Amino acid sequence: MRSVVLTPRDEAAEAVVEKWRGEPAPLLPILHELQDRDGHLREAALRVVADRLRIEPGDLYGTVTFYHYFRLAPGHDRAYCDGPACRLRLEHGGETEIVRALGGDAEPIPCPGRCDRPNAVMAGGKFFDSCERGTIANSPASPAAGGPVILRDALHADQKTLAGARARGAYAQFARRLAPDEILNTLEAAGLAGRGGAGFPAHIKWRAVKGAPGAPKYLVVNADEGEPATFKDRVILEHDPHLLLEGVAIAASVIGAADAFIYLRYEYPEALATLGDAIAGATAAGLLGGARVHLRRGAGAYICGEESSLLNSLEGKKPFPRDKPPLPVHQGLFGKPTLISNVETFSVVPRILEMGAEKWKTLGKDGRPGTKLYSLSGDVKRPGNYEAPFGITARELIHDFGGGPREDRRVVAFTMGGLSGGLLPASELDLPLDFDAPKKLGSMLGSGGVVVLDDSRCLVDAVRGTMEFFRNESCGKCFPCRIGSQRIVERLDDLATKGLDETRFKELPEIAELMMKMSACGLGLAAPYALVHLLRWFPEAVAAHRTGRCAKGVCARRPAALFAPLAGRRAG
Ligand SMILES: Cc1cc2nc3c(=O)[nH]c(=O)nc-3n(C[C@H](O)[C@H](O)[C@H](O)COP(=O)(O)O)c2cc1C
Ligand code: SF4
Repeated sequence: MRSVVLTPRDEAAEAVVEKWRGEPAPLLPILHELQDRDGHLREAALRVVADRLRIEPGDLYGTVTFYHYFRLAPGHDRAYCDGPACRLRLEHGGETEIVRALGGDAEPIPCPGRCDRPNAVMAGGKFFDSCERGTIANSPASPAAGGPVILRDALHADQKTLAGARARGAYAQFARRLAPDEILNTLEAAGLAGRGGAGFPAHIKWRAVKGAPGAPKYLVVNADEGEPATFKDRVILEHDPHLLLEGVAIAASVIGAADAFIYLRYEYPEALATLGDAIAGATAAGLLGGARVHLRRGAGAYICGEESSLLNSLEGKKPFPRDKPPLPVHQGLFGKPTLISNVETFSVVPRILEMGAEKWKTLGKDGRPGTKLYSLSGDVKRPGNYEAPFGITARELIHDFGGGPREDRRVVAFTMGGLSGGLLPASELDLPLDFDAPKKLGSMLGSGGVVVLDDSRCLVDAVRGTMEFFRNESCGKCFPCRIGSQRIVERLDDLATKGLDETRFKELPEIAELMMKMSACGLGLAAPYALVHLLRWFPEAVAAHRTGRCAKGVCARRPAALFAPLAGRRAG
């Protein structure tokens, strides 16, 4: 159905749409450009977009309102992070100070990936960290590398420039023009498992796309990094973008893709600029072997990290997860075979080709292959990104790399996989941080984001915050996740603030089980882990709250309403 334009023509918007219309995946860049122009998305501009891209206006409205950072009205864009690491520092009235510093009407936002320097805030479309007592300092994050292989060059100040990167060997592996089979065999011998969360063998995925019928083939870099307390990809994107681009060029040549897309989360504007320069420089220098690399900025939606949601988002559709099968390797972007993988996965490829599979395999712990980037935050002396032997234990990461808990404190719990891995007790600190071991505990390594909680923290409050996040970010497509997450939050709100009766308490594990069995995608399947772990490993804290007592004095101070605004915003 064609729309009728009732408002005056917006000729400038028409020019913006025309500029992008011939490009692949044009909707997101058009919307960003129009919002940058006007400060918000004006109705007249949206009508032009709907008309020219032949999108039903109602669908466009649903898509636009799905994202946190597209705005339909002017004004308000001051916010503070309510993620798991910053939240620890919002306790005992801290949020009041930050809100006041931001002008009084700031609202909470999901983690923008700056947990190494809490607290993170957003103002005027920019993200800042280390906001304390009204001071806002914009300081670039620096990678704190433990044993650098992936991050070997990232600490050099000029590594983000093409000249600096090339001086240290960037693009040398791609320049060797190894045969595709040699590259695939090397990745197989190296045992490279994808770093996006599931740990699926990279060579199998690459081979599946290479061998899939259909053309063209596409490559997509998942740089959404939306998992709270995860900020490992940000280091590569901001400090060594050419390492990623070399991995992309190698992968594109192996699978036979001419177009590659990097889907970058909205919250990383610094990386947007760095990557844009790097792509332009490498393309002009002919270093990408003819692969056209397109940079697309997300607009704030955790579900867009899920690969099929990401593909829908790129295609300009409402970013619901797709039903699988078909898998993206067979029918991905625009229905064509697509290799979609995480930033770290692509970035590690040049290093493996350089050192060889045998050497790579010796780098991990107890026979596991290679190194891994872990994001460490929360109650440790030295939060940061650490490159460590793959399979290092949580204790080694927290104590040897992170310096251990604060003075006179002890670790009582830690998360893994950001929030998706749940909440493990200190008795499990010797757990190897690999893809297999956490599964035995009903957890998962996921993104490699570890948040430490010491004995000053209320674990009921931590889990309540976790469930609020998943409730807010549930895309709403399937019933168990949409309703289940809301029902769990309601019960945890009551548990935290006034106690919980027997009937509603017993419903908690039942709802969790239903979600873990019946949800349609990984968000709903993993969301209840934290609740299940709370009930299993921290029964004393739960029992105390059921009688209305929070031993840490946190829960009563944190009104449920404080975390509500984003929940109500998703209209699509
Ligand atoms: C809710 C949800 C969010 C996800 N977010 C991300 C993300 O931000 N980055 C990422 O690389 N993978 C994310 N994933 C995993 C992707 O779906 C996909 O498995 C991954 O990009 C594959 O990369 P790999 O082959 O390098 O492991 C997410 C999955 C789910 C279910
Ligand atoms: S599990 Fe949640 S996020 Fe995933 S499709 Fe269902 S409603 Fe959407």
